[in-house]
Amino acid sequence: MALRITFCCSHTKAEPWLAGFRAALPGVDITEWAPGAPQAEHAVVWSPPQQFLDEQPALRGIFNTGAGVDALLKLRLPPGARIVRLDDAGMSVQMAEFVCHAIVRNFREFDGYAADVAEGRWSYRKPRVRAEYPVGIMGLGVLGERVARAVAQFDFPVNGWSRTPKQIDGVRTFHGMAALPDFLAASRFLVCLLPLTGDTRDILNRDTLGRLTPGGHVINVARGGHLVDDDLLALLDSGHLAGATLDVFRTEPLPAEHPFWRHPRITVTPHTSARTLRDETIAQIAGKILAMERGEAVAGVVDPSKGY
Ligand SMILES: NC(=O)c1ccc[n+]([C@@H]2O[C@H](COP(=O)([O-])OP(=O)(O)OC[C@H]3O[C@@H](n4cnc5c(N)ncnc54)[C@H](OP(=O)(O)O)[C@@H]3O)[C@@H](O)[C@H]2O)c1
Repeated sequence: MALRITFCCSHTKAEPWLAGFRAALPGVDITEWAPGAPQAEHAVVWSPPQQFLDEQPALRGIFNTGAGVDALLKLRLPPGARIVRLDDAGMSVQMAEFVCHAIVRNFREFDGYAADVAEGRWSYRKPRVRAEYPVGIMGLGVLGERVARAVAQFDFPVNGWSRTPKQIDGVRTFHGMAALPDFLAASRFLVCLLPLTGDTRDILNRDTLGRLTPGGHVINVARGGHLVDDDLLALLDSGHLAGATLDVFRTEPLPAEHPFWRHPRITVTPHTSARTLRDETIAQIAGKILAMERGEAVAGVVDPSKGY
């Protein structure tokens, strides 16, 4: 009997994905899931309902069409299923350009120049000293490492923080909770690229952000649950932080009445820093399904005990 794959991604039209998988995996039976659908061996998902997982106890592989698996890990999973996250698939270069853009835009004061130009003013600002704007990257995984290397190309001092020790050329690395205060004190731009877990929820708060070099700028491109919104606003109002670039929020879409929308020193983008690219994603998942069927190990298998 043909290998069966079920597709359950509510945020996107199924047909182009199904066509892509049929082209990549000839002979495989892939259909969009609906309640009561036949049992499949593999699933391609984004934020599936609990009913989907309850009705698919035979799943061996659950392929998440994104890097973050926090939503999936909140659900009750079939006992024999492994969650496989997307690793890179065109996301890390997008994340690197988003973060570099945010840093360079603020470091070079491009918003200030745009305001001057809009008023017909030909003005110069004193060049800032790069060494006074060290960049701290929280999370040195698939995305964080690529971002750290990209930022280092602009000659900013770069610090990185992870759970376990890491060595990256051009990056001063720290690891573990005990090293977090030193990492923060050594950073002025702070980029969050952590997974959302029990250990990292609310990690961007009054205490941690208060340890950044004054005049700091927070870039959250991981999950809204990392940031305590009111603490960020208080530190911006006190002048300790100069600004924030936020791509992710506790509630998405960001509610119309949320103060982030109108804050003069917060830039909001609609969870768009690193989008899932369909062709790259299909190629990667198809390759992993074939490898798993041959009994080979695949990259990106999530460890539920770690939460990422
Ligand atoms: N905004 C967007 O469009 C977008 C797109 C894609 C992903 N994301 C978010 O970005 C996150 C990171 O993605 P990724 O692919 O780079 O993840 P990843 O490869 O799993 O890397 C996670 C990194 O965080 C570190 N980490 C985890 N828990 C930690 C802790 N308690 N203390 C210190 N460091 C900790 C890990 O340390 P070790 O190296 O020691 O394990 C690792 O370096 C995703 O989880 C997702 O939430 C956002």
